[in-house]
Amino acid sequence: MSRLRIFDMAAELARIGVHLEQWRAAQPVAPGDPPEAILAAYRADVDRLVAERGFRSVDVVSIAPDHPQREAMRAKFLDEHFHKEDEVRFFVAGSGLFTLHAEGRVHEVLCEAGDLISVPDGMTHWFDMGPEPSFVAIRFFTEPDGWVGHFTGTDIAQRFPRFEVGQAR
Ligand SMILES: [Fe+2]
Repeated sequence: MSRLRIFDMAAELARIGVHLEQWRAAQPVAPGDPPEAILAAYRADVDRLVAERGFRSVDVVSIAPDHPQREAMRAKFLDEHFHKEDEVRFFVAGSGLFTLHAEGRVHEVLCEAGDLISVPDGMTHWFDMGPEPSFVAIRFFTEPDGWVGHFTGTDIAQRFPRFEVGQAR
């Protein structure tokens, strides 16, 4: 297997329909803050994105490294799948690794605090939160049941590196 690093990643991702943004909080927030406080800190960007893209709901999800269901939660989207709506996530804190499989290429996108990623509907991908997951993310949804994983049944995700950042701590 050969791996290619592309340094103008945003342009390459835009070419395949993946949208990235960087947001800054209007006031400081930290993991453990209530969802309303987290949304308030990013209100202008959240409202803009909702207006631009027609999202019908927005929520905040948090996971800490000692979460009792972390293994099951990690396993859920580790295999190649797609959704029938865009998968749009803003990382308030922590990190996670999206791997996108498009046009015969595999693109790893490490999302960290301040990063918004929008993976277009139908694009095959997988998501690894790592063995000691730690993130707070704002999620955007169009349909209540749109963000269901449709698994392709391939083993491609198992042939690429997993996200092991948690083990370095
Ligand atoms: Fe997904």
